[in-house]
Amino acid sequence: MKKYQHDLIITANETLNNQYFLLKLTQSEPLPEMQPGQFVQLLIEDSAQTFLRRPISINFVDKAKNELWLLIQKVGNGTRKLAEYQVGRAINVLYPLGNSFSEPLPQQKILLVGGGVGTAPMLMLGASLKAKDIEPTFLLGARSAGDLLQLNEFEKYGRVLTTTEDGSQGEHGFVIQHSVLQNEQFDRICTCGPTPMMKAVAAYAAQRGIYCEVSLENTMACGIGACLCCVQDTVDGHRCVCTDGPVFDAKELKW
Ligand SMILES: Cc1cc2nc3c(=O)[nH]c(=O)nc-3n(C[C@H](O)[C@H](O)[C@H](O)COP(=O)(O)OP(=O)(O)OC[C@H]3O[C@@H](n4cnc5c(N)ncnc54)[C@H](O)[C@@H]3O)c2cc1C
Ligand code: FES
Repeated sequence: MKKYQHDLIITANETLNNQYFLLKLTQSEPLPEMQPGQFVQLLIEDSAQTFLRRPISINFVDKAKNELWLLIQKVGNGTRKLAEYQVGRAINVLYPLGNSFSEPLPQQKILLVGGGVGTAPMLMLGASLKAKDIEPTFLLGARSAGDLLQLNEFEKYGRVLTTTEDGSQGEHGFVIQHSVLQNEQFDRICTCGPTPMMKAVAAYAAQRGIYCEVSLENTMACGIGACLCCVQDTVDGHRCVCTDGPVFDAKELKW
């Protein structure tokens, strides 16, 4: 898939809570085709500490508005700087990068599991499934009710189930403890989030013989397969998460 480097203009920078914000970007030309699971590399200028681009999942593409959405958690210098960017400012974006979630078979019952900022790619994936007449179940986990983000957006594309670690919304506990995992059988699971969560989801899927794809967020530098800093051990040897991934069949991973 062809990659582009564009100066995209910020149309909105919405604060969702004290940790998360939603950047919306556009340009005058139509945005390129992007697939669920792919990511962008953002250039954050004006600081030696942010010399390397920062990888961020494609959260959603609003084709009607020609807008790319990025859901971002403030964790360090780069993401904190992005949170301060004002509407109208340009950001240099290298995209779309990486592979994507694979196509399900028609009629498959699909569960999309997201934890923390790992819910970001699940919105785009859910929207693309709904466009193919497949309505997924979203299982979204967070520490607390205020950290469950974009629920009104998720509800447009499927059934939304939630867990919180403090029990303030949805079922109390971690996503892997949600009752739907005991009460219903799914044909396919896609997941993104903290590694322990993804490992638990992958183990659950393996026990039940369910096909499972995981989206890894290994630390990256170049994002285009040149520096090997994102390698992941798999049954086929070391593979670059930025080019062979970020989406892998869970059975392929040695983790
Ligand atoms: C394919 C991919 C998709 C991603 N999608 C998103 C997304 O949609 N939204 C989002 O907010 N973040 C996402 N991330 C994580 C994001 O890239 C990092 O949080 C960001 O690069 C941190 O930059 P910083 O300058 O703010 O922090 P830094 O100052 O670079 O680091 C601050 C802290 O964050 C940790 N950190 C840095 N990179 C990562 C990482 N990749 N994973 C976990 N911890 C990290 C560092 O170890 C350090 O403790 C994604 C990462 C990858 C590889
Ligand atoms: S980030 Fe450089 S090879 Fe993947």
